[in-house]
Order: sequence, then C-alpha cells, then structure tokens
Amino acid sequence: MSARRPLIAGNWKMNGLRADARALADEIGTLRKNKSQDAFDLLICPPFSVIETVGHVLDSTGIFLGAQDCHTAEKGAHTGDVSAAMLKDAGCSHVILGHSERRTNHKESNELVKQKAIAAHNEGLIAIICVGETETERENGKTLEVVTAQIKDSVPEGARADNTVIAYEPVWAIGTGKVATPDDVQNVHGDIRKTLAAKLGQETADGIRILYGGSMKPENAKELLALPDVDGGLIGGAALKAEDFWAIAQSC
Ligand code: G3P
Repeated sequence: MSARRPLIAGNWKMNGLRADARALADEIGTLRKNKSQDAFDLLICPPFSVIETVGHVLDSTGIFLGAQDCHTAEKGAHTGDVSAAMLKDAGCSHVILGHSERRTNHKESNELVKQKAIAAHNEGLIAIICVGETETERENGKTLEVVTAQIKDSVPEGARADNTVIAYEPVWAIGTGKVATPDDVQNVHGDIRKTLAAKLGQETADGIRILYGGSMKPENAKELLALPDVDGGLIGGAALKAEDFWAIAQSC
C-alpha cells in the first residue's frame, strides 16, 4: 500500500431498487459508523434512480456518494442524460467515467471520457477515470500500449490528485472471477503512474490514487492492496454484499 489515502469504491452498476439500496447502504453505514477511525475512504456509486435515497442513508456515516456516469453538457436537450451539476446537486462528490461497460456498450471514446471528466471537474466532482485492456489486447501483448493511450487521451490537462482518481480494470477480469496477478497489476499501475508523470508532472502523478478493479474479493484484496502503486479498489459484485465490501476495506 502507498502513502496515498486508500479509496475503496463500490460500483453497484444497474442493481438496487429503493428498498434494497436503502438496506445495503444502511448495512455498510452501520459497519462504518462503528469504526470511525479507519485509514481509508469509502465510496458508494449507486444507479441514478436511487442516488438520493442512498445519499440520505449515508448522511453522517463519512461514506462518500458517487455516480456511474455524467454528460459533458451543463444542461439542455439531452434526453435521458444527467449532468455533473445535477449529480453535485444530488449530493455526489465522485463520478465514475469511461467504465469499460460504457466504452463498449455506449461506444465512449477517450475524447468523450476526457470531456466528461472536464465537466465533472468544472462542478467540483472527483472524476474516477477507468482504463483497461480486453482479453484480445492482453493475448496480443498490447496491455501497456492500450492502457497508456487511454491515460494519455482520457485524462484532462487539469487533472490533479484532489480531483482525479484512475481505475485500472482489465476488462477480462470484470465479473469473471479471474483476477490479474499481483505482478501484472503492479506492472500496469506503475506504467500508469509513469504515464501520468509525463503528462501532469511527477508530484501530481505521485498524488493521484490508482485503484484496481476486476474480481477483487475479500480473499485476494490484501495482496492486491499491499502493492506499492495500488491505492484502493473499484468493486463490482463484492460491493453488493456489505460484509464482503467491508472485508475488502479492512484489507487496506
Ligand atoms: O467498476 C468495478 C467493476 O467493473 C468490477 O466488477 O464484479 O469484477 O468486482 P467486479
């Protein structure tokens, strides 16, 4: 683990009607309330439909509230979209951007992700910018090439340690139970930090937290979180079980 304050973020994806969302947030909040001196940040990113419900439950727990996407525009004729200003208004402090499921399903380019990050920064939100290679890219030995390009083209010039987090999520490890080896994770995270240093300067790069995501579970979290350039986790499936999410956080 690095000197940077660890962040354990739960990406609930498209899960959680109000009753379940309230109960899960309450369970996690209760676990957190009893251990207020924890040396890590906790963040929950529910679906848009329950953001305020979850936000009310998280009040006074010290757990941050985030979203899973935002539009680039401040407001206007964008049916079905949500702006960074609306997320801020709803109580969010963070927003996940460029998740591989959006890059794939919504054809989100590096440039679009960068514009979304700028919109988030403009509203004072912390942008969690996701990068990661596909199985094919990994098999063809293109991992570092792909991830480096995503960092160069998705991270805005105004990125700083207090407004940007990077999440490395190898696409082939998301939801599959297959987790990258600690050596592979440290190799990619170290390369991400070098690429950030070349783009933003060493001091900024050293301050930016780089999370690992992709089948992080209680049984593998400690080894991954102990790596020098791993500053936390972006958790999917395990975030939907309060005990597992908390067990991962305790591994920091
Ligand atoms: O954003 C986090 C997510 O993509 C990781 O999912 O289920 O492999 O922890 P999971």
